[in-house]
Amino acid sequence: MSGWPLFDLRLWTGAVELRPVTDEDLTTLEGLLPADFEQDPRYDPWPTLTADANRRRILRQSVWDGRGSWRPDAWQLSFTVRVSDIIVGLQVLEAPNWGIDRTVDSASWLAPPARGQGYGTDMRRAILELALGRLGAAAAVSSAWDDNVPSLRVSSRLGYEVQDARPHATADREGTLVHVRLDAARWAALAQGWDVRIIGLDACQEWFA
Ligand SMILES: CC(C)(COP(=O)(O)OP(=O)(O)OC[C@H]1O[C@@H](n2cnc3c(N)ncnc32)[C@H](O)[C@@H]1OP(=O)(O)O)[C@@H](O)C(=O)NCCC(=O)NCCS
Repeated sequence: MSGWPLFDLRLWTGAVELRPVTDEDLTTLEGLLPADFEQDPRYDPWPTLTADANRRRILRQSVWDGRGSWRPDAWQLSFTVRVSDIIVGLQVLEAPNWGIDRTVDSASWLAPPARGQGYGTDMRRAILELALGRLGAAAAVSSAWDDNVPSLRVSSRLGYEVQDARPHATADREGTLVHVRLDAARWAALAQGWDVRIIGLDACQEWFA
């Protein structure tokens, strides 16, 4: 068995397949990374790099950090999103306090040509089934600027409820950030009939203690 069984995890729903990102995938993801995806502000841009080179570096470092710092009680897993076996985007699932609160957060993007076809909803549905259905998460949370209609629509379609909307500032933007949450009981009531297939999880159980 591989020393990193997460690489064999597969999630499918609708037309979408999710696979943990490999280093080979990163070159493709770099080429697709859209300018409107706001990267994790914990990564400072380096003044020695162009804006574009910083974005590509942060994409890679964030995926590598997720693997390198993995602990069963605090983890981050990045998936490629594929349609007809072609990579079209990235879906991240993270649980920085998994050992304490059993709560997952998520972030995602699609290349612009792949948007508006339901894939954004499908990929989030897939990770919700993984987290709430299979890993026993207590809740899923997410956040988006109040003008990010597609992201907020994906959340509301899948049953997340608005918790609050608060003023927020990053290095690039000030505005209102909307926080949403889907708890396990609500998910269980709504997710009947969701058709998500997951393979390879048994070999990873110790990764999510
Ligand atoms: C967020 C994102 C992944 C959603 O993917 P998507 O393919 O657009 O999502 P879907 O096709 O499943 O659409 C979801 C909903 O948003 C709506 N929507 C999509 N694009 C829209 C737009 N430009 N304006 C208004 N509504 C829009 C859809 O109609 C759908 O709503 P409905 O269920 O009422 O029909 C994608 O838009 C994206 O990559 N955005 C840029 C990065 C980003 O902001 N990521 C989220 C923050 S981490």
